[in-house]
Amino acid sequence: MGNKITNICCIGAGYVGGPTMAVIAAKCPHIKVTIVDLNVARIAAWNDENLDNLPVYEPGLAEIVSQARGRNLFFTTEVEKAIDEAQMIFISVNTPTKTYGLGKGKAADLKYIELCARQIAAVSKNDKIVVEKSTLPVRTAEAVRSILDNTGNGVKFQILSNPEFLAEGTAVEDLLSPDRVLIGGDTDEEGQAAIKALADVYAEWIPRERILTTNVWSSELSKLTANAFLAQRVSSINAMSELCEKTGADVNEVARAIGMDSRIGPKFLKASVGFGGSCFQKDILNLVYIAKSYGLNEVADYWEQVVIMNDHQKVRFAAKIVKTLYNTVSGKKIAFLGWAFKKDTNDTRESAAIQVADELLYEQANIAVFDPKVEEDKIQADLNYLDTRTKEENAKLATAFQDPYEACKDAHAIAVLTEWDEFKEYDWQRIYDNMKKPAFVFDGRAILDGKKLTDIGFVFHVIGK
Ligand code: UDX
Ligand code: ADP
Repeated sequence: MGNKITNICCIGAGYVGGPTMAVIAAKCPHIKVTIVDLNVARIAAWNDENLDNLPVYEPGLAEIVSQARGRNLFFTTEVEKAIDEAQMIFISVNTPTKTYGLGKGKAADLKYIELCARQIAAVSKNDKIVVEKSTLPVRTAEAVRSILDNTGNGVKFQILSNPEFLAEGTAVEDLLSPDRVLIGGDTDEEGQAAIKALADVYAEWIPRERILTTNVWSSELSKLTANAFLAQRVSSINAMSELCEKTGADVNEVARAIGMDSRIGPKFLKASVGFGGSCFQKDILNLVYIAKSYGLNEVADYWEQVVIMNDHQKVRFAAKIVKTLYNTVSGKKIAFLGWAFKKDTNDTRESAAIQVADELLYEQANIAVFDPKVEEDKIQADLNYLDTRTKEENAKLATAFQDPYEACKDAHAIAVLTEWDEFKEYDWQRIYDNMKKPAFVFDGRAILDGKKLTDIGFVFHVIGK
């Protein structure tokens, strides 16, 4: 170990594993990178000749994949072969919140990680470096190490934590030019050699001073902390958005004013209908669970409030629609512009749109969804996952449209749930002409020109004003 890495395998071809490995392969032509996944359809999609069919949509990703795929980047379901051949194995499988048993609703479910560790242990015939890429609770490396050491074939494993900080929608940009790369490992000689081997991979395109090394636990906790801080900023500005709506202040003006304080900074201060995505809520709940498990109840309560505030923001957005539409949306058509949890991604995990839709469906509204990158089956699957209505009811009450103008036709109201740029460019006069009157717009992302819409005749409501 510690030799130059020429063969990498990544378990998990998802939103993190796929783009991350594609960039490593593109930047390191001397390294063979094999991404494996149990999901046959997903691997087939990654191998699809038509790059529009890649399972993950990210600006710039198709170009990166086409550059390296078939050269030194391979997607396959042959998990064991890829593990066997690799010197370094990234674990990039999903770690959802547990939906059962101890820690239900809070702790991370590590069953996929454990399965990976057992598989690596069973297959490996020579020493390997195992890299945790998925976001994990602190001290997961210990569990992985215990499985590897106790069930392996007597080979040596070094375990590194290398959390990924990319944000969806800007994944390629973030991977090509990250603020920092974090690598946690053991402090002994072998641990340091493993850290160096991974640092050398990144150093092919990232300046050395941006590659930080720490102990494993600091690295694992840094990832949870970064996400908790970012989510907290969103909940903080969202809390102020509600106060702004009551007092006549404008949350965007407030955000601008405080963001110019260099101690606060301007980023992550955009009030919205609520944060979504696979990380923020999951990681905070995980942090809450860890804090509670150490008896740190005040710490746990402090962070839990970030998620409580976020839920409140989604619920109050839906309630505002109901109240404004004369206290009933029953049988009314509400058009949703956007379903993804943010722009420039086809990912819908924990998207605010799902909860807002659920609230409105509970009020018997009809929902017409248009999202430039999300298809009908995904929308139905998201609603069915909630388990609050039957599949048939969801299919009857919520419909996806291929065309935004069709989605908005005859609608009583439009709700903007995702900040896709194209929404700003629509022919809003045409939309207005085809809607029921009064025509309401609820801008949950504060992206539309309120004055223009009001001049057209819309009744315009926006978060934080
Ligand atoms: C996040 C972290 O940014 C990233 O470092 C980590 O690796 C994974 O989790 P991601 O969830 O992909 O990334 O997107 P992010 O840009 O952080 O947005 C998360 C949510 O917060 C989105 O729903 C977004 O719309 C919302 N958000 C973000 C706001 O509502 N306001 C903001 O100012 C910023
Ligand atoms: P993330 O956003 O963290 O990348 P995803 O859910 O998009 O999460 O991707 C995780 C991927 O890991 C999924 O495609 C899933 O099929 C895959 N996966 C989970 N467990 C295993 C395993 N034991 N072996 C191979 N692939 C796995």
